[in-house]
Amino acid sequence: MNKTVLVTGAAGFIGSSVTQALLARGDSVVGMDDLNPYYSPKRKLANLTEVQSSAPDNQAFRFIQGDIRDRSLIGRLFAEHRFDSVVHIAGMPGIRDSITNPALYYDINLNGTLTLLDGAVRRLTPKGQTTDLPRFIFASTSSVYGATRRIPFVESDPCDMPLAPYPASKRAAELLGFTYHHLYHLPFTALRLFTVYGPRGRPDMMAYKLADSIFLGRNVPIYANGQMKRDWTYVDDIVRGIIAAVDLPMEYEIINLGRGESVLLADFVGLIEELTRRKANLTTAPMPDTDMPCTFADISKARRLLGYDPSVSVQQGIARFLAWYEEYVRNGNE
Ligand SMILES: NC(=O)c1ccc[n+]([C@@H]2O[C@H](COP(=O)([O-])OP(=O)(O)OC[C@H]3O[C@@H](n4cnc5c(N)ncnc54)[C@H](O)[C@@H]3O)[C@@H](O)[C@H]2O)c1
Repeated sequence: MNKTVLVTGAAGFIGSSVTQALLARGDSVVGMDDLNPYYSPKRKLANLTEVQSSAPDNQAFRFIQGDIRDRSLIGRLFAEHRFDSVVHIAGMPGIRDSITNPALYYDINLNGTLTLLDGAVRRLTPKGQTTDLPRFIFASTSSVYGATRRIPFVESDPCDMPLAPYPASKRAAELLGFTYHHLYHLPFTALRLFTVYGPRGRPDMMAYKLADSIFLGRNVPIYANGQMKRDWTYVDDIVRGIIAAVDLPMEYEIINLGRGESVLLADFVGLIEELTRRKANLTTAPMPDTDMPCTFADISKARRLLGYDPSVSVQQGIARFLAWYEEYVRNGNE
């Protein structure tokens, strides 16, 4: 049966892709985003135009420009709509930027999540009747694993050593989700996303910076001589995992969504150079204290619970990303 879903961060990279996939299968989506200038709001508006044009009719998609911390707006949204699911993707996403703006990261990633959790449980009767609450899906991050020594990363890891305010704020939001599940039986799923890349990718992420370096000659610092590893995951695989979580009745779960393959940054750079037949303009730089030397997802839980099966190899994913980059960015877009 078709669902009504609230997607926060709907104008961003992952949020716009999830919204399009929900619309394509016939769900109705209320998309929300504050279009903040972390990167060009023009890019976010362009994402929204693509989302809007893919909606089957005018009723299926409604966009609201607003801040997830705005309690009265969120209260009104939950009063007006009976959401089957909330896919909470809005957030401040930069590990290193969170050092400069820790209060902002906490305010948006934790207090913003709290506001949405409060909205989601407002259907409770005065007697605390707990049926019929929306499923709450939260976009968490692989960086909550921080200084763990257990590789590949498993969801049962305590995740109590985050290396920057960004992952600390995401881990705190996962914990708050448990509290709302415990108190109100809110179905809450935190999906820990691993280095997502693909069309509409954020300009501050490595794949995008490397393409900028190759095509626009920009210099990119490469940490630890490229000897760090990332579990690069193509956005379509992530979207499929998120949609599976929207569909599956769960209680409280934390689930890794990665590709389950850890690739050296140097090899990732090499693949991009090979596909473009050009060299990136790189400078070596020491690894920042905020960054993990390796990310690597154990995805057996996602496979078991969600039927998740990432199918896009890093080679295929990079080729698709570059095709998009060439068309969109080299045509004069920011
Ligand atoms: N891209 C990745 O590799 C990755 C990995 C792990 C986790 N995540 C998480 O997934 C989510 C989406 O990441 P993305 O790469 O698509 O980033 P993005 O910046 O493209 O998308 C986030 C969107 O949220 C919006 N937003 C931010 N603060 C808001 C607020 N207060 N109110 C309303 N909207 C707000 C932004 O305008 C933006 O459009 C983030 O929460 C991020 O932490 C991303």
